[in-house]
Amino acid sequence: MKMVNWMNFDNELKSRVEHIEKIIAEFLPEEKGWQKSVIEAMNYSVLAGGKRLRPMLMEETYRFFGGTRDVVKPFMAAIEMIHTYSLVHDDLPAMDNDEYRRGRKTTHVVYGEAMAILAGDGLLNYAFETAVKAFEMVDPKDILAVSKALSILARKAGIYGMIGGQTADIEAENISDSREDEALKNHPWEKHLLFIHEHKTAALIQASMMIGAVLAGATESQLEVVEKAAYDIGVAFQIQDDILDITSTFEELGKPIGSDEKNNKMTYVSLKGIDQATQDQKIMSNRAIQNLEQLGNSNGISNEFLMELIKSLITRIK
Ligand code: IPE
Ligand code: IPE
Ligand code: MG
Ligand code: MG
Ligand code: MG
Repeated sequence: MKMVNWMNFDNELKSRVEHIEKIIAEFLPEEKGWQKSVIEAMNYSVLAGGKRLRPMLMEETYRFFGGTRDVVKPFMAAIEMIHTYSLVHDDLPAMDNDEYRRGRKTTHVVYGEAMAILAGDGLLNYAFETAVKAFEMVDPKDILAVSKALSILARKAGIYGMIGGQTADIEAENISDSREDEALKNHPWEKHLLFIHEHKTAALIQASMMIGAVLAGATESQLEVVEKAAYDIGVAFQIQDDILDITSTFEELGKPIGSDEKNNKMTYVSLKGIDQATQDQKIMSNRAIQNLEQLGNSNGISNEFLMELIKSLITRIK
């Protein structure tokens, strides 16, 4: 593989984000017909920007395993649609009740709650309408890989994935206030928190990386390594999100800070403090890099940009 000058990591990152935005835009629905309003709200949310981390991890994992075809593209768009729907619903008054996202007013503030709920539903469904297009892009022998990618997408987004995590997140509101209560003295706080972080956030990161791997023909045992590494990356990502909710600024994040405190959330920081949180997210990220590098070494494959990307998440400020 060509050695790249990672002094230019930021430039490289920028150009890959642009490349991903083009792919996403290609798959978005046209704003027309009697359903125009909901489609406008969907596109408003998706086109607001964001780091595009999930499609990027998907494409880089696909490349890591030697993938070179377009079949990954509908899945890249689909994962960003699902992620964006999770944000639209996460910001609703009934959930985190936040008014800014990606530097813009949230979807419900602009289009009203009913349309934001429908836009979220629309994005979730359209993600699958988009992903199934991959079937038309492959030879018959690759149909199985596309089916497997679809089933990963479905499961990791659902009650055993992101929705399950959001459920536990909502139910844990106010609970860490009661940590001193006698009745809760044996409560498994750390397990509870890791369940939330694994499901609400790591699940979609796992889906991203696993789909990239599966579409490029990774074996079952390689897929297991990817799933574990993506768990570490995803939980570390949410820990950093919890930290930034306290230490960052609205200008930097494009979303309000202090949202977790406002909602009395159980977060990694509320449970373990900022120092421990910082330390733990670094350990998890480095463990993921180590495991992926080892996998690469024993299979004669590599993707320097992917490793650099994961490393950059440790110190991300937005
Ligand atoms: C925000 O995700 C929600 C979390 C899971 C922490 P991102 O931080 O990836 O948000 P965007 O896509 O860049 O807006
Ligand atoms: C949300 O976690 C994860 C999702 C599945 C949307 P947060 O509620 O902490 O995400 P932000 O901080 O609003 O982006
Ligand atoms: Mg939330
Ligand atoms: Mg939130
Ligand atoms: Mg947050």
